[in-house]
Parts: sequence; C-alpha cells; structure tokens
Amino acid sequence: MNDPLILGVESSCDETGVAFVRGNTLLGDVVASSVDQHARFGGVVPEVASRAHLEALLPTIKRACAEAGHSLRDVDAIAVTSGPGLAGALMVGVASAKALAWALDKPLYGVNHLAAHVCADVLDHGPLPEPTAALLVSGGHTNLLLVRDIASDVVELGGTIDDAAGEAFDKVARVLELPYPGGPHIERAAEDGDPNAIRFPRGLTSRKDLERHRFDYSFSGLKTAVVRWVQERQAAGEPVPVADVAASFNEAVADVLTRKAIDACQEYGVGDLQIGGGVTANRRLRAMAQERCDAAGISLRVPRVRLCTDNGAMVAALGSQMVQRGLEPSSLDLPADSSMPVSQTKAS
Ligand code: KG4
Ligand code: ZN
Repeated sequence: MNDPLILGVESSCDETGVAFVRGNTLLGDVVASSVDQHARFGGVVPEVASRAHLEALLPTIKRACAEAGHSLRDVDAIAVTSGPGLAGALMVGVASAKALAWALDKPLYGVNHLAAHVCADVLDHGPLPEPTAALLVSGGHTNLLLVRDIASDVVELGGTIDDAAGEAFDKVARVLELPYPGGPHIERAAEDGDPNAIRFPRGLTSRKDLERHRFDYSFSGLKTAVVRWVQERQAAGEPVPVADVAASFNEAVADVLTRKAIDACQEYGVGDLQIGGGVTANRRLRAMAQERCDAAGISLRVPRVRLCTDNGAMVAALGSQMVQRGLEPSSLDLPADSSMPVSQTKAS
C-alpha cells in the first residue's frame, strides 16, 4: 500500500512554499519568493511579506498540484508551518491550511519551522540517524539542536543571542556596498581575498563566555568589528580591500559555526551532524564543516541548496514523519505562533 500523501505549506518568512511528499519522497515542490520586494529595504519587511503570501498562495498550490500530478482530493493529510516566524506571514499559511483541511476533511498538522528545516534532509538522504545534531543557519535563525526524534523530541542546545548568521552577512554586505541578500555577494567577493588577512573576532569563544554560552552564537560584535575596520580605512583615506574583508569575515563566521557544532557533537556523543538553512549555500562553510567532521569522525549530512532554504517540502516531510509515527493531528484552531519553541515540534 502507498504511504499517505502529505501536502506541505510554508509561509513563515519571505518564501511561499507548497509541496507534496509521500513517505520520504518529494513529488512536487514550488516556491514563490518575495525577496526582490524586500531588496531595497535591506531586509524582510513583514507587512510586504504577508501581502505577498496572500497573492502567491493559491497560484503556488495550483503549480505544486500540476508538478506533482495530483489534485487536492488525493491529499491524505496537510502540514503547515505553525511557527516560529513573522506573525502576519504565518497567519496566511495557517488560515489557508485550515480552510483546506476543513474543506477536504483531512487531518492537519501544525509543524515547527526549525524542526522542518532539519527534516528536509530526509528527502535527500533518507531517514535521519537519531540522535543527530543539527546546525541551522539562515537569515532568521542560528540554532544548534539535538534531535532525538525529529517528530517529537528536539532540544535546543544553543542559538544566537543577537543577529542570525545570515543577517550578519546581509549587514556586512551593506557596509561593503554589496547588494541584498548579502551572503552570495560576500561569498563571491571573498573568492579573490585572503581569509587570514584580518583577524576578526569569534563571538562567545573566550573561556569566560564559554562557561555560560558554550553552544550559543553572537555575530553583532563581529559586524561591529568589520564596520569599525572599514571606517578606519576610509577615515585614513585608504582604499577598502573588499575581497580581504569579505574573505576574513566569511572565515570568522564559518569557523565559529562549525567549531561549536563539532563541540556539541562531542559533548553529547553524537556521530552525525546535519546542517541546513540558507547560509549553508556558503562553500567555505560547507568545506570547513566537512574537514572538521572528517577530523572528528563525525558524518556530515547537507541537503541540496534548494532544500536548505525555506520551502514547503520540508514542512510536508515533517508532516509525513508525524503521520508515519501515528501522531495525533493538531486541532483546527491551532495558532500561528511567532515564537514557537523548537521543543514543540507540533502544535497541539
Ligand atoms: O534560509 P533563507 O533562504 O531564508 C531565511 O532567512 O529563512 O536564508 C537567507 C539568508 C540570507 O541572509 C542570505 O544572505 C544568506 O542566507 N545566504 C548566504 C549565502 N546564500 C544565502 N550566506 C552566506 N553565503 C551564501 N552563499
Ligand atoms: Zn527558515
């Protein structure tokens, strides 16, 4: 017998994502992004994002149905991002998923966006080894997680105490007069630079900070250090070596992200590390994670870039895990919970 067919809906930030998953197989995956509408503001504008979801949702569902070769009537269960994310943006997806669940008379699962990011990898590499450690790095999140059961038992080991890693890329890009979103532009500029040219700070790595924040991250000090370094050059009337600044900044971020992730694996005796989120597209981060995992005897799982950024596939994948494990669906009055903790994988 076929596994149940799950429809996944994602709308927590600036991507409207709709996808179909059966078991661990992705059947159709469509993403409409409003990133271009935010570019001139240098960051996501919540009201613009909500409106864009409203306009994109129905056409995206239609395209996903066409791509999967399924109609909504074939759906066995619906999964939607319940949180965390932007309240107005989440509300569009949650309200639409409720309407579909009610009209089709199918169970609805409100799922956690962070757990869904981790679950995306199931679509590329099969069932997740459990326990596994997961590092999530995007414009909105930077979290180190211990996943004991992807559907029901995820523990946050640490997270950023200020900016997310992707946010730091975006802010430093602005200082270097590179376009938004900054990550890919910094990466390109860094190709011609020397990663050891400037020793930028690694946040929360001093012995004292490690006592309280061993698995937490901080990028605002790094951002300030870059700003100051650039301003000093400009004040002295010297040219700014953009490639060296970009490479040294990229190196500092990759170093601290991977160092703490490996430390977490060793502390918790976990042999597998999974990384995800938009910043995972960064080649230096991937290479450093691979080198350090190899040296520590940890196996690294990284989904393809399309599955690292926000999408409906990861939401459907987590819904599918919940259905496979026989978890109760959420109630039809489940909330759009902008600060849903990762320990809560499913809305009640
Ligand atoms: O996961 P994502 O698409 O959206 C959310 O934030 O949820 O991540 C976008 C973030 C942006 O901050 C962008 O600058 C960063 O990921 N990013 C990168 C790269 N590509 C995207 N950062 C570093 N290197 C990249 N190649
Ligand atoms: Zn995300």
